[in-house]
Amino acid sequence: MSKSLQAIRGMNDILPEQTPLWRYFESTVARLCDNYGYKQIRTPIVEFTELFKRSIGEVTDIVEKEMYTFEDRNGDSLTLRPEGTAACVRAVLEHGITGGGQTQKMWYIGPMYRHERPQKGRYRQFHQIGCEVFNLDGPDIDAELIVLTWRLWGQLGIRDAVKLELNSLGTSESRGRYREALVEYLSAHLDKLDEDSQRRLKTNPLRVLDTKNADTQAVLVDAPKMADYLDDESRVHFDGLKARLDAAGIPYVINPKLVRGLDYYSKTVFEWVTDKLGAQGTVCAGGRYDGLVEQMGGKPTPGVGFAMGIERLILLLETLEQVPEEISRQVDVYLCAFGEAAELAALALSEKVRDQLPNLRLQINAGAGSFKSQFKKADKSGALYALILGDDELGQQVIGFKPLRGQGEQQNIAFDALAAHLATCVVQG
Ligand code: HAM
Repeated sequence: MSKSLQAIRGMNDILPEQTPLWRYFESTVARLCDNYGYKQIRTPIVEFTELFKRSIGEVTDIVEKEMYTFEDRNGDSLTLRPEGTAACVRAVLEHGITGGGQTQKMWYIGPMYRHERPQKGRYRQFHQIGCEVFNLDGPDIDAELIVLTWRLWGQLGIRDAVKLELNSLGTSESRGRYREALVEYLSAHLDKLDEDSQRRLKTNPLRVLDTKNADTQAVLVDAPKMADYLDDESRVHFDGLKARLDAAGIPYVINPKLVRGLDYYSKTVFEWVTDKLGAQGTVCAGGRYDGLVEQMGGKPTPGVGFAMGIERLILLLETLEQVPEEISRQVDVYLCAFGEAAELAALALSEKVRDQLPNLRLQINAGAGSFKSQFKKADKSGALYALILGDDELGQQVIGFKPLRGQGEQQNIAFDALAAHLATCVVQG
């Protein structure tokens, strides 16, 4: 196939056989967010480029080299959203819904775009589900967000495979003092730093902390520690969060090198990581961004949130074989009809049944076919029961009811009694 007719590298189709798992995952998270009192927000996929530059930060990898930016027909610079927080901040400002200190707890789901080098778990179009909370500045809400994700891992059966890493970046003042100390220390060891870290030292020095380069890591062993520069307010906040996680029985490790790749964070930052997916092991990440709304032109409004990568979590469910069996069964009953008269009767009958059992997943055979071929399709559909309608049955106004997975004998059911009979044997969602 010619290249221009293929999907763009790093952007994946999610095929019909994969969507049941996606929908199971998405509905599990959506239900959980609803149950914790979060309401869904839907924002456009495209925003003005300026929004991302000003919120994520000019000297981050995302803004410097990963954004899908283009001019529209008005000459405006637009960008496909690389993440969801910036748009939430824009939306709360634009609609004034955090005015007067009003709390907002919201969640979102959708595709995000980053021009990264594609590999397992890293794509150019990927999907996030995220939560954002505005106007609550205490550690209780940081803890709630983490508790929510912990519950999710439990519901999905992946708790043992993920680990919580935690850090505090302090307020911008304490971070400024720390940055100065770090720059002074690293500048004295400039020749031992890798090229990227030398560049970051000038543009975004805290990012040197999460370098993968072994020589630079060796230099960092004796570098000043963020914890020693934390102001009292941030320390009390961080202690409050840790106490709540302890009370909830959620294990965590403090990672003093956790700085995150977006510039808007202050105080709490966290990542849920797994060692089951290779290099792309962060499945969920977030933190506090108390200065962001103000920086974007609003009144001071604390904010905190996280986003999880759906592709990575789907991969993890598959790797750990935590895919519930029942989600791949999409059909309860498969109806086979033989001959034109039976087909017409089958259609009318099945519509009557659907009227009475709106949640029944009933598939009618399409494209006719022999008894053998229809039966094969019934079996392949995963249905629990087959319904069989031929001339003989039609004459008697009954339909053959055949269990396909070994639950009892075949029997004939009167047309009038079919819905009631199905209601007793199919559990309907
Ligand atoms: P992030 O760390 O850039 O944070 O992304 C969050 C999650 O999205 C990652 O942990 C990962 O699971 C997934 N992800 C990121 N990039 C890719 C990719 N190229 N391919 C597949 N999955 C990916 C944010 O986006 C922040 N907005 C999170 C946040 C919300 N902080 C506060 N509120």
